[in-house]
Amino acid sequence: MSDRFPMPMPFGWFCIGYSDELAVGDVRNIHYFDRDMVLFRTESGRVGLTHPACPHLGAHLGHGGTVQGESIRCAFHHWQYNTEGVITDIPYASRIPPKWEGKPCLKTYPVCEKNEVIWAWYHPEDAAPDHDVIELDEMRNPAWTERQRFEWTFDSCPQEIAENGVDVAHFKYVHRMEAVPEGETTYEGHIRRSKVSGSRTVTDEAGNAHEVESTVQVVQNGAGQKWVRFTGMMEYVLQPLVTPINDATVEVRFIYLHQPYAAGSFEAMGMEAAIESTNGQRGLEGDIPIWHHKFHLRNPVLCDGDGPIMRFRKYFSQFYFGGPYPGEGGLPSDLEAVAGTSSAAK
Ligand code: FES
Ligand SMILES: [Fe+2]
Repeated sequence: MSDRFPMPMPFGWFCIGYSDELAVGDVRNIHYFDRDMVLFRTESGRVGLTHPACPHLGAHLGHGGTVQGESIRCAFHHWQYNTEGVITDIPYASRIPPKWEGKPCLKTYPVCEKNEVIWAWYHPEDAAPDHDVIELDEMRNPAWTERQRFEWTFDSCPQEIAENGVDVAHFKYVHRMEAVPEGETTYEGHIRRSKVSGSRTVTDEAGNAHEVESTVQVVQNGAGQKWVRFTGMMEYVLQPLVTPINDATVEVRFIYLHQPYAAGSFEAMGMEAAIESTNGQRGLEGDIPIWHHKFHLRNPVLCDGDGPIMRFRKYFSQFYFGGPYPGEGGLPSDLEAVAGTSSAAK
């Protein structure tokens, strides 16, 4: 575990790429969750995600491996494995070793494709997924044709980023905007939903003022899937995708989805401004310098103006294997650890 974060990587479904970036026949080396993995797409379009070591004599499947039909073929002796890790061919053997016939011998990881994203299930003990990725209607709606994608990599962990939404006090100081209330929030097992509604006055190009009702709905489904649905002058969906590369570095992707707006229209300009502000200082890029260096304190000193940070942490703690988090395991307060004060002074 990293010195800055007292928790391990959470388990969950995480984005490991976009579906349209993996063509039929592609074999890719990827590194997330502190693991090297091999990602490939078969001729019928299935996605496979495996450990890189060929179970035969250990060649790296991502170096010289090729897709053959529904299998990946190792470059060394041409053994082939399907997406379940079962041997499908050994070109020079009279039969597949009986012990492994029909049984996986290459290690594979759960993977699925939804919302134009390839998702991998990460669990430190390789436990099976306990929930599914949720499909978004807008992603399948043919009228919602516009997508814009952005990407950042920096030192942080999924919880720090997720927690930002309930840290109501930082909006004024980091993002130079009014405090954003948490809104109506519900917690249901691994799903958290929040909704904020409001109205504001917008002036159009002709100088006419309009009162615009808007809502922002946020849904978090496990540690790795989240989306934000905006309605108002423009309607759009943002999928913020946060994937741990290791226990102290993340890759963040933002994908915005919206209906087409006529070039130069008020809505098109509004959309551009919304994206710029969500990515920029009023959004993610305002937070990155803080996240990149901050510590995660298990026992922060909070005040009455802070948001429901500890409630959110209780929710997120369910995504850590081998908890407890936040701990009651007799650990000293991290403030004591940071300040070097003795526990007797408490
Ligand atoms: S090491 Fe892969 S086929 Fe022999
Ligand atoms: Fe923020």
